[in-house]
Order: sequence, then structure tokens, then C-alpha cells
Amino acid sequence: MNKVEAIIRPEKLNEVKDALAEVGLIGLNVVNVTGRGAQRGVTAGGSRGVGRYEIDMLPKVKLELVVHDENTQKAVDVIVEHARTGNIGDGKIFVYPVGNAIKVRTGEQGEAAL
Ligand SMILES: Nc1ncnc2c1ncn2[C@@H]1O[C@H](COP(=O)(O)OP(=O)(O)OP(=O)(O)O)[C@@H](O)[C@H]1O
Ligand SMILES: [Mg+2]
Repeated sequence: MNKVEAIIRPEKLNEVKDALAEVGLIGLNVVNVTGRGAQRGVTAGGSRGVGRYEIDMLPKVKLELVVHDENTQKAVDVIVEHARTGNIGDGKIFVYPVGNAIKVRTGEQGEAAL
């Protein structure tokens, strides 16, 4: 099992969520986050340098889903396809191994719990 953590544009959330559901990946968390990437935020406001200010931390959405090993690449591919605009700030995906999962209602463990 792997945890796929994807930080994406908030406006892409619905499209990505629907695309994941279409390939059978239903269970997930959505967390509002603020963060920064390589460009360290953006400059906004004002014109010709007057009244401009730096926005260091930008609002993003973090999707977290734990998936079977064999669904990991599919999850990543779906997220990349649907979250991408081609512009800076499209986001980032991290993949972590998961030791175990337990479904509280049934006590099932491992991949059966997903
Ligand atoms: N190294 C990192 N570790 C953890 N979170 C990160 C990291 N890089 C980016 N993020 C998160 O992902 C969000 C989007 O990052 P972003 O897409 O701007 O990455 P980037 O490396 O700057 O790529 P790009 O050049 O396409 O903008 C950030 O606002 C931050 O929340
Ligand atoms: Mg960036």
C-alpha cells in the first residue's frame, strides 16, 4: 500500500476527485493548505512596481489517498493528467509506503481495509 499525497490547485479539486472516482479510487482526504514552491510565491497588486507586494504562501489543496500497490501509478497518472495546466504552480505529488491500514467497522487489515 502507498499513500499518495498530491498538492494541487484548489480549482482543480473537483476534476481530479471525479477522475479518481472514475478509476475506482474513492476514499480520500482533502486538506486546505498554504505553501510555496520553487518560485517562493508570487508578486501581486500595484502597477509598475508601485504598491506591489509579495505573497509568500499560496493556497493549495492537499489530496491524500491510500491505495493498493498496483493502483499507485494509476492514481499518480490521473492526478497529473487532471491537475495540470502547464503553468508554474500546478503542484506536486509525494508517494509514501504505508505499513498497515485497519477498517474500524470490520477490523479488516492491510489492503482489504482500503
Ligand atoms: N519540496 C516541497 N515539499 C513540500 N511541499 C511542496 C514542495 N514543493 C512544493 N510544495 C507544495 O506544492 C505547492 C505547489 O508547488 P509548485 O507547483 O509551485 O512547485 P514548483 O516546484 O515550484 O513547480 P513549478 O515550477 O511548476 O511551479 C506549493 O505551494 C507547496 O504547497
Ligand atoms: Mg512553483
